[in-house]
Amino acid sequence: MKRTKIIEALRGDAGRADILVKGWVRTRRDAKDVSFLEVNDGSCRANIQVVADVGMDGYALLKDMGVGSAVAVRGELVASPGKGQRWELRAASVELIGAADQESYPLQKKRHSDEFLRTIAHLRPRTNKYGALFRIRSEMSFAIHEFFHARGFAYVHSPILTGSDCEGAGEMFRVTSLGAQEAAGLTAAERTARDFFGKDAYLTVSGQLAAEVFACSLGDVYTFGPTFRAEHSDTSRHAAEFWMLEPEMAFADLVDDMDLGEALLKSLTDAVLTRCAEDVELFASFVDKELPGRLGNIRDRPFVRLPYGEAVKILSGCGREFAYPVGFGLDLQSEHERYLTEVHFRGPVVVFDYPKEIKAFYMRQNDDGRTVAAMDVLVPGIGEIIGGSAREERLDVLEARVAELGLTMDDYWWYLDLRRFGSVPHAGFGLGFERLLMLLTGITNIRDVIPFPRTYRHLEF
Ligand code: 4AD
Ligand code: MG
Repeated sequence: MKRTKIIEALRGDAGRADILVKGWVRTRRDAKDVSFLEVNDGSCRANIQVVADVGMDGYALLKDMGVGSAVAVRGELVASPGKGQRWELRAASVELIGAADQESYPLQKKRHSDEFLRTIAHLRPRTNKYGALFRIRSEMSFAIHEFFHARGFAYVHSPILTGSDCEGAGEMFRVTSLGAQEAAGLTAAERTARDFFGKDAYLTVSGQLAAEVFACSLGDVYTFGPTFRAEHSDTSRHAAEFWMLEPEMAFADLVDDMDLGEALLKSLTDAVLTRCAEDVELFASFVDKELPGRLGNIRDRPFVRLPYGEAVKILSGCGREFAYPVGFGLDLQSEHERYLTEVHFRGPVVVFDYPKEIKAFYMRQNDDGRTVAAMDVLVPGIGEIIGGSAREERLDVLEARVAELGLTMDDYWWYLDLRRFGSVPHAGFGLGFERLLMLLTGITNIRDVIPFPRTYRHLEF
């Protein structure tokens, strides 16, 4: 008999004479001639309550069905007389699939701290909170594909191994072609000297350059995949490996870019509220009471759009003592971004036209000679969630900027070719997928929204 997922068993309108449910025991309560099991199979937040009478097939096995064990239960789905659930499963037979030692099973029935759960990342998806989080993560991935598919964007697979530093920030992890055995016989210095089959290779920091290639041929495209930063920042918002969504549009300017970013965030917020209502409710109850209000605000209110120069004026005139200085030409720090979104505007803010000195080489220069057509979307609780720009499509301007920055463009001949042959205005951005999940759940540490966090000096599992 095929198993019925708990989400399907519980959402029906009628009882079912004979179903088979499989999952992990969350709790067991024994009365005199009857036991109650709460079983969860990860398909939804709710457990199914199993009622097992003494006369049932396999009743003796129940003593080994402790918290964490995997079980199969066959029986009748009936209306529950108990409080808190509509349906319960009257067991006709139970089977123990995999026992869990009660002494050493780490997930006992109590609230565990996020710090502790990080040390058991292989078991934390079995908790209510992380089950909900990773279901939302999955739903949002699909919602992203649906959003772009509906708008006629092509999905491009950009490479993970690359020779080019898109952001020019020197934060790339180097890759070696040494095999593990070969490496074992070498000294550390010999090992680091070996590269990728005779070339320098790195893990990509961004799929943007590849996305630009495809935008300049397919029109509207996006890439969505893992990216890597060898950033030495041990913060709650930075990971060494994170997922980035990067749309890129041909025949588009900065306003089109801001419009797309805003429409995307609104659409994903709506998707989480409508499709993940039960899981979002968990975060609203146990993690962040203000979550529903904040999400409603993002979905329903237009984002503020603010030139960088105006942002600097607001920050310098607000009377706040910031740890980092504010002034035209200085990058906005997280504290500044949070002041704008949490105190001054109380909602998302799109800051645009940044000074060129603090932005990447590929951004389109504005006529004022000092700023570029860049935009960052800032949101409450997080700060920067999206970074993007119009790209410099004028070959002479791009070449001059590259020379000015002392970059070597030899490796980027193909990137310059896009400007030599049928160059078009184009624009795009990168959305940090983990930061999106933090926004949508109220979780404040990036380590808690990615299945296996890789952060500064931290690699386990
Ligand atoms: O602002 P960033 O560095 O922009 C780019 O990489 C561009 N090439 C994107 C593009 O235009 N196609 O990164 C984009 C976003 C940030 O706004 C942030 O949300 C996220 O990626 N991000 C990180 N998320 C987690 N950990 C890190 N270390 C991150 N660095 C950037
Ligand atoms: Mg940025």
